Amino acid sequence: MKLLHINASPRGEDSYSLEVADHLNIQLAERNEVEIDRLDLFKTNLPEFGEVATSAKMALFTGRDQTDEEVAAWAAVRAVFDRFAAADIYVFNVPIWNNGIPYKLKHFIDLVTQPGWSFGFDPEAGYSGLMTDRKAVVVHASGVWHSDVGENFGSDFSTPVLQDWLNFLGVIDLHHIRVQPTVLTADVDTVKAAALRRASELASTL
Ligand SMILES: Cc1cc2nc3c(=O)[nH]c(=O)nc-3n(C[C@H](O)[C@H](O)[C@H](O)COP(=O)(O)O)c2cc1C
Repeated sequence: MKLLHINASPRGEDSYSLEVADHLNIQLAERNEVEIDRLDLFKTNLPEFGEVATSAKMALFTGRDQTDEEVAAWAAVRAVFDRFAAADIYVFNVPIWNNGIPYKLKHFIDLVTQPGWSFGFDPEAGYSGLMTDRKAVVVHASGVWHSDVGENFGSDFSTPVLQDWLNFLGVIDLHHIRVQPTVLTADVDTVKAAALRRASELASTL
């Protein structure tokens, strides 16, 4: 089994979501033959998806030949996708930033979400995910937001984005682990311990 671990926190040893994701991966590796590829989004120079990559994409839509610059840009995007596609299981650790996902994760999503690669489209049937037969676990961390907090304490637009995006790609076998809240709590160790327990439970069933 090939596991791609996508680390969307830049906080290294201070990251709660990373600690829980690492725990899950260790537990999974104890039970299965797992090859782990870790993608640290904040340490990786992802290719730009700007003027050249978007015109390369539109060239494919319109049937125009890509320029040499567009061919190179598109190959760089494809390399990121190939790494994504090589995995059978995804583990994401994702901090809530400003009620949503960190910008580096959105960058990654915009690179790998391409028609004909990760999803298909039929004018009559609509969209269909091409990343089927894969599983995903998302470890969410947030400083303030948690499921029982009042509406003046922010929102979680991160979970729906990830849930919707992974389902869109055809990844239906999707699990969530929560380390929340990590800041607005008198006892973060208890919060973390519950998340580590949930990771252990999940590792025994995945
Ligand atoms: C740029 C930034 C924005 C943040 N925005 C929110 C937020 O909107 N809601 C929240 O509950 N916590 C927010 N936090 C707190 C983090 O979610 C919290 O520190 C969490 O533990 C980060 O995950 P990590 O420990 O895995 O890095 C923010 C932190 C940073 C650095």
